[in-house]
Amino acid sequence: MKVNLSQESSYWTQRYNENRMGWDIGYISTPLKEYFDQLTDKSIKILIPGAGNAYEAEYLFLNGFKNVFVLDISKTPLDAFAKRVPNFPKSQLLHDNFFTLKGNYDLIIEQTFFCSFVPTKENRSAYVSQMSKLLGKHGKLVGLWFDIPLTGDMEKRPFGGDKTIYLSFLDKHFSVITFEKCYNSIPERQGNELFGIFKKN
Ligand SMILES: C[S@@+](CC[C@H](N)C(=O)[O-])C[C@H]1O[C@@H](n2cnc3c(N)ncnc32)[C@H](O)[C@@H]1O
Repeated sequence: MKVNLSQESSYWTQRYNENRMGWDIGYISTPLKEYFDQLTDKSIKILIPGAGNAYEAEYLFLNGFKNVFVLDISKTPLDAFAKRVPNFPKSQLLHDNFFTLKGNYDLIIEQTFFCSFVPTKENRSAYVSQMSKLLGKHGKLVGLWFDIPLTGDMEKRPFGGDKTIYLSFLDKHFSVITFEKCYNSIPERQGNELFGIFKKN
């Protein structure tokens, strides 16, 4: 996927500056918190792409996961995060484009990132292949995908989908461990999201 870094960065920075961040719930979402709480190996290398204010990274870091990387194309939420969590290593705050990032992670977390870019086949395929590239041999992609209609409107975020649509992309590089209607969503998202754990093929 070709991303114009400065254009994308400006778009998202403007949304943060104008406080138009409907996606930002202000705390770690329950499904991700409960997933993290059952992880036993705190040394794993975790990437949170399109992390925004990254309440998940804050929670992980304060709970002993020190190998967490926060990625965003906009510097604004990264700066806010650095202020909020001053002990978090600056070298683990990545101001970069997900689609060209290089690295090797054990776990990548999805939350309202997939739904944020234009839902063309090209973009969705690029997301899945890039996720796969960024994961190591036994790597996992874990997170939440909106279970809301994908309309033809290419302007209106968040862009939705359903299990079948998502699997048509994810199946190319991942095996499903679980991908089900989320039972512990936050109230505002109840019934509107899927929780998935995918293992890299
Ligand atoms: C809808 S917001 C979601 C933020 C966060 N995941 C949350 O749940 O609050 C999408 C985020 O992805 C970032 N983003 C968009 N395109 C990106 C890209 N190509 N690489 C890295 N970050 C990107 C935006 O700056 C924004 O912070």
